[in-house]
Amino acid sequence: MSEALIPVTSIARRLARLEPSIVAAATRVARSGTVLLGPETEAFEAEFAQYVGKQRCVAVASGTEALRLSLVALGIGHGDEVIVPAFTAVPTAASVCATGATPVFVDVDEFTGAIDHESCAAAMNSKTRAVIVVHLYGRPAPFPELGIPIISDAAHAHGALTGANGLDAGATLTAYSFYPTKNLGGMGDGGAVVTDDEELAAKVRLLRTHGMTEGYVHREVSTNARMSEFEAAVLRSALRVLDDDNRARRRVAERLRLAAPMLRWQESHPDHVFHLLVARVADRERWRASLGFATGTHYPVALTRQPAYQRFVRAECPRAEAWAEECVSFPCFAELTSSEIAVVAESLERCQS
Ligand SMILES: Cc1ncc(COP(=O)(O)O)c(C=O)c1O
Repeated sequence: MSEALIPVTSIARRLARLEPSIVAAATRVARSGTVLLGPETEAFEAEFAQYVGKQRCVAVASGTEALRLSLVALGIGHGDEVIVPAFTAVPTAASVCATGATPVFVDVDEFTGAIDHESCAAAMNSKTRAVIVVHLYGRPAPFPELGIPIISDAAHAHGALTGANGLDAGATLTAYSFYPTKNLGGMGDGGAVVTDDEELAAKVRLLRTHGMTEGYVHREVSTNARMSEFEAAVLRSALRVLDDDNRARRRVAERLRLAAPMLRWQESHPDHVFHLLVARVADRERWRASLGFATGTHYPVALTRQPAYQRFVRAECPRAEAWAEECVSFPCFAELTSSEIAVVAESLERCQS
């Protein structure tokens, strides 16, 4: 990609903007002498739980670990099945496989990309133990009523699901990723599980440190999924600007959607936080070659067509595969300048398909 092109997202610009708070976080941690599981992690957990309106938060090493530990805390493993949307980032399904359980792919909605509830009901059997609902691109997805635990994959949805809007109230556990490009992004990998269930939170907490309770006594077989103090300290300051950043993303999205009303945009939602601003375009490669800015593809291959995951396919998922063929992500991040937004908008006005 040429440097001159306006990018879809920019970690460099975000880091430049947040540099003073990142340096302050590093200094604080260096002076504290505690690099893991200390006061920054505890404070971040309390602040993030309050922000999303849940009783408990457990900070972990990544979004994938947040999903995996949620599944393990529910007792899910070999012989169990977990329903997963066929159009999402691969880690949603990878986390299920990492527990030894089987992901069962179901189709998504044509307009929102959210998991299709009828397809979920059709995929249920005596082995089905949970469903993972992905809030694709930051658009809150409704939860199906299946009588099984719901894991909410909120890797794209920081700020979209709050106590006030109640949109995550039906989730048993919710998994966040703090990968640097996310709306709440850190300095490396990071994730969190939030829940109102104290027992499940305690289980995840135990599982993130080798299942160890007191000094070198292990109550569970597990691995290391800790978040560093530095990551937690950076996330604490990033959390303070999350609402402003989400407002900026919404303004960009609104401007670009208005510039190209004929594009097939992901259906709107009042609480959408636009981790990604996406439309569907037939003949995608030809169309985007004519644009004067960078675009992305999230995601180019549905899980049903991924070489490593095809063996799990049971039902056809044509709508998921159509999303993969047609999705185009547009520049949408807080540091975009108004002149860049105008360039993208004008280019879109000229190139509506
Ligand atoms: C929808 C979704 N779920 C889960 C994850 C996994 O998060 P992480 O990269 O922090 O492991 C991602 C990461 O991009 C994601 O997009």
